Amino acid sequence: MKSGKMGINTICTHVGEVEDKQFKGAISPLYMSSSYAYEDVDVKRYPRYFNTPNQEALCKKIAMLEKSDSALIFGSGMAAVSTTMLAFLHKGDHVVLPQTLYGGTYNFVVEEFHKFGIEYSFTEGFSEMDFSEKIQKNTKVIFVETPSNPLMRITDLEMISKLAKQHGIITMIDNTFASPVNQTPADFGIDIMIHSATKYMGGHSDILAGAVAASEEHIKIIWNLAKNLGGSLSDYTVWLLERSMKTMVLRVKAQNKNAKKLARWLEKHPLVEKVYYPRLKSHPDHELAKRQMKGYTGMLSFEINESLNVGDFLKALKMIKPSMSLAGVESTILSPAKTSHALLSAEERERQNISDGLLRFSVGIEEVEDIISDLEGAFQKVSKMEKI
Ligand SMILES: Cc1ncc(COP(=O)(O)O)c(C=O)c1O
Repeated sequence: MKSGKMGINTICTHVGEVEDKQFKGAISPLYMSSSYAYEDVDVKRYPRYFNTPNQEALCKKIAMLEKSDSALIFGSGMAAVSTTMLAFLHKGDHVVLPQTLYGGTYNFVVEEFHKFGIEYSFTEGFSEMDFSEKIQKNTKVIFVETPSNPLMRITDLEMISKLAKQHGIITMIDNTFASPVNQTPADFGIDIMIHSATKYMGGHSDILAGAVAASEEHIKIIWNLAKNLGGSLSDYTVWLLERSMKTMVLRVKAQNKNAKKLARWLEKHPLVEKVYYPRLKSHPDHELAKRQMKGYTGMLSFEINESLNVGDFLKALKMIKPSMSLAGVESTILSPAKTSHALLSAEERERQNISDGLLRFSVGIEEVEDIISDLEGAFQKVSKMEKI
């Protein structure tokens, strides 16, 4: 079958598989070798060159999912983010980014860029004006992350790509929150797609990995730096990630479906002040999300009534795990004010609408009735405590 005609589940299941010519096994064999022959071979292979059989196989799958020519897999999402940015930004260059970035990316920019002489500007918001007013003569890259964490604001990818092309700027997106199931930024002209594969691609909270997909030309530039920085992923984890990705579409669609039901339930709950989920008409970017995304993700945030103690609420949950990270098959919840946004001042958190009662929820694949029942149990327990 021609790859262009394949459905997304077929891509996840089959593209890039390593054929087991010796034993005819049904799945890709795992090649753990870190030493390969150098004479009489087409390619000199070495894990840090990102070209072992398992690495190359998985890259084909990721590239096709992101409608790109090529891809690279990294040891973490941050290795993918940092290597990609540094591959295109040199001394005296400038990058425009939204301030609502994932904390690790934000820290990388503010703590490291000055050492390389790279300039940066954070936008105030997500509109064309917000981005265009920050573009300078030396701007080389616009980096976006949509949906944003934790308020799920959406950036218009077509607008970003047009704006960047007018100025000869390269566009990069951290597509982690959406996953390639819910959003393919290449459809809107975005140049480089980056993932923390730790999240929806891995999907079981047991893998740390990153990925980048782009044109051959851009991947070559990233590879030239990547082999020197050395952030490749070990083959065993590459193999595990390939296995996980076979079920990515099934998982993500189940998470989308649960999140939609949960968001509607939360929106009607008397002890919930606000729900942030782009599938809801009340979300400020609902129309844009509808245009740009194929699904609305399993990520949402909600604000509980200020009379309730957040710590008590989290402790009262029986099944849903208060924990960091996201996108596993199990539902998890966290307080951004205590984790991802803890280093911001209280004033800055208020400016960004991150209240102490805000909770970010990564919806799992459990029965949605069980998720709702766990949350309702916690609401009832904590509201009784407050009355005592
Ligand atoms: C949106 C986003 N990008 C990048 C990262 C970094 O990924 P990793 O933890 O795999 O390095 C994360 C991690 O939470 C993330 O949420």
